[in-house]
Amino acid sequence: MTATPHQRTGPAMGPAEALSELFTPAGKHNPYPLYDALWDLGPVIPLGPSGTLVLGYDEVCTALRDPRFLVTDADVHRATGMIDHSSWQCFTKIMMFSNSPDHERMRRFAGWAYAPREVAGRRRLAAKWAERWADRLAALDDGGPLDLVETFAVRVPISVTGELLGIPESDQSALRGAITATTTAFEPVFDRDELRPADAGMDVLVDCLGELVRERRRRPGDDLISAMVRDRDAGGALSEEELVASLVMFLIAGVQSPSDLIGTTVRLALSRPAEGRGMTGDDDLVSAFITETLRFDPPNHVLTRAAETDIDFYGHRVAAGSRALLVLAAANRDPRRFTDPAVFDTTRKDNRPLSFGLGPHYCLGAAFARMQVEVAVPVLLWRFPRMALAGPPAYRDQLVTRGFARMDVTLGT
Ligand code: HEM
Repeated sequence: MTATPHQRTGPAMGPAEALSELFTPAGKHNPYPLYDALWDLGPVIPLGPSGTLVLGYDEVCTALRDPRFLVTDADVHRATGMIDHSSWQCFTKIMMFSNSPDHERMRRFAGWAYAPREVAGRRRLAAKWAERWADRLAALDDGGPLDLVETFAVRVPISVTGELLGIPESDQSALRGAITATTTAFEPVFDRDELRPADAGMDVLVDCLGELVRERRRRPGDDLISAMVRDRDAGGALSEEELVASLVMFLIAGVQSPSDLIGTTVRLALSRPAEGRGMTGDDDLVSAFITETLRFDPPNHVLTRAAETDIDFYGHRVAAGSRALLVLAAANRDPRRFTDPAVFDTTRKDNRPLSFGLGPHYCLGAAFARMQVEVAVPVLLWRFPRMALAGPPAYRDQLVTRGFARMDVTLGT
């Protein structure tokens, strides 16, 4: 397949210029005009010897399915020295940053925990916590603005995943900052000091989960940590460090992106009151609304791959060892795949954004994440029908893992 020239027009901007703009605070706040500017250079953009930018839907799908595009694993992070940081020491022990055969080994070990049958059984858990946090929100209301991120969007997933893993409720709040801090390790690093918050966050999570693993080994409970300790001790093919790292990942992935998706979904629902109100009684609309939110402004904008060998990719040569930056958020707005991509439209047919990835590393928790958002957002909209934004929400200073730092709303109760 060859790349077709792109139709849109935009400001003339070279790839290096657009990329450096992308990682400024303004670019992270609203990257879409920059994706448009990059689009004008084509769906695959060579960035010189070190990398390739991939923006097209088909092109991103091809890269995600092609086993020669490796995830950046321990070997890659050893070569760059990043593995000396505790954040990457842990991340390189999980399936997301492991290639074959370790990847399959790890995915086989833990896959059952997020299978559809398990997820269906957790709907009541999600509903219980959504109702509880909505109650607490109501109790906090004094008519003034409240930050919905801190009081609801992040709380529901922490409580759900916390209970699932068996993390005592009293410890959950203390982990909240550490979870978000670790995700800053996924941003491009220009100076190693930028990894300090991620490293500090990771140290907290590894200590906490490591301690819980030891405790559940002594006194097993009815939770995921106990189940995974039991499986590993019964001969499951995971080292102790990999077990702790996997649990850390379940906590980070279980909280951050679902929380970001709740935030974005609520913001979009509040900006479209008719549809927002409709979501309280229409499961199909809820599902379509969340899919369209995932397309329109996904929680993860960029995935990175490293070329195992020289790859001839849509007429471009991707050199062995170089990086391919796969921009999911741009692929989700590929006008060859989505009509009027900049328009939020819940009636799209065949709406299949790439926000959970594709291929062997397709998000293990996709169904679990969607279920939490499908439960939490309607509860919130039903409980607070007059809720309104009290100002523009503020994004975190991140692009790869994108979401609101703060979203002030009035509840109107
Ligand atoms: C809205 C929420 C979420 C989004 C947008 C999301 C997105 C993604 C994406 C894009 C990938 C692919 C990474 C790659 O190919 O390099 C991925 C992988 C993964 N996700 Fe999620 N995720 C979400 C929630 C979750 C949850 C709740 C969990 C559960 C614990 C989870 C666990 C994982 C795991 C384990 C992988 C790695 C799978 C593998 O390497 O085989 N995610 N996720």
